[in-house]
Amino acid sequence: SPGTVPSAAAPPLPTSRPRRLRRTPGLRNLVSEHRVHPANLVWPVFVKEGLREPREISSLPGVMQHTRDSVRKAAVEAAQLGLGGIMLFAIPEHRDAIGSAATTPDGILNAVTREVVAEVGDALPVIPDLCLDEFTDHGHCGVPRADGSIDNDATLARYADMAVALAESGGDVLGASGMMDGQIGYVRSALDAAGHTDTALLAYAAKYASAWYGPFREAVESQLQGDRRAYQQDPANATEALREIDADVAEGADIIMVKPALPYLDIVRAAAERVHLPVAAYQVSGEYAMITASADRGWIDRKAAIVESLTAIKRAGAGIIASYFAPEAAHLLR
Ligand code: PBG
Repeated sequence: SPGTVPSAAAPPLPTSRPRRLRRTPGLRNLVSEHRVHPANLVWPVFVKEGLREPREISSLPGVMQHTRDSVRKAAVEAAQLGLGGIMLFAIPEHRDAIGSAATTPDGILNAVTREVVAEVGDALPVIPDLCLDEFTDHGHCGVPRADGSIDNDATLARYADMAVALAESGGDVLGASGMMDGQIGYVRSALDAAGHTDTALLAYAAKYASAWYGPFREAVESQLQGDRRAYQQDPANATEALREIDADVAEGADIIMVKPALPYLDIVRAAAERVHLPVAAYQVSGEYAMITASADRGWIDRKAAIVESLTAIKRAGAGIIASYFAPEAAHLLR
């Protein structure tokens, strides 16, 4: 009669059963598509001129401001753990408007680069940061004009001098993080003209003006008032990142980086599909702080969150991951 449903046969059972390959740890291991290896990880470290004892950074629990001595020990540890590299950030005793301490041969970053290279030799790539913000008394990544805006082309001249000084100190790869237009081409030419054709450039190609850099500013005792939105990218923009990446490739970058990492995995993926260069991503200070703070409260599992976040960044397409978790992660990944 109308309205009655014919007695139904049981619905068909699934023909596709992905759970089959998730049943045991061995099967899951067999079909795992992405693995983070210690060699994928680069460890960013901070060294402060004149510091007598290593000091923990309060917004980055477990991360230190190093002394010249303790940073060499950190580099040895990084080499022993089989990490991919070490990034050096330095806090000078004296700052001025143009960041003079960045270009003097005995400036802290140049001195520490020499000392770390002497310690680890060819075993561990040494990657000093090529930017002025740690060295300027206003905390900006470049040279300001009278009206306070950052003068792109005057800054390029400072980066060129700084790059040559860092190359002369033995840095293997220079981390160009300032987000000035044309910086990769300008610095590449200056390095080549000075005979440093073998010094590689890691281009912070797509670097966003991000709230996740907060703890880093404490780590380097940044003097910045305001923000960097007139040179770093708007978090709303993805097409612009492709333009930045293409420019850095054309200008001679050896490695392309996206920063931050976890909030920008779409950009990491786009970069990996676009370039035929190694792609890096930087799990920045705020990403470290987020995981650390919630794990300290017992709200998430620290070790699992570290491994999952790094695996996600690698899955998105980054073969190189800069992370403050690098040494801890190397132990977890063993
Ligand atoms: C600038 C620089 C910054 C970071 C790396 N290089 C700070 C900024 O752009 O404000 C941030 C890294 C981090 O948050 O871990 N030289």
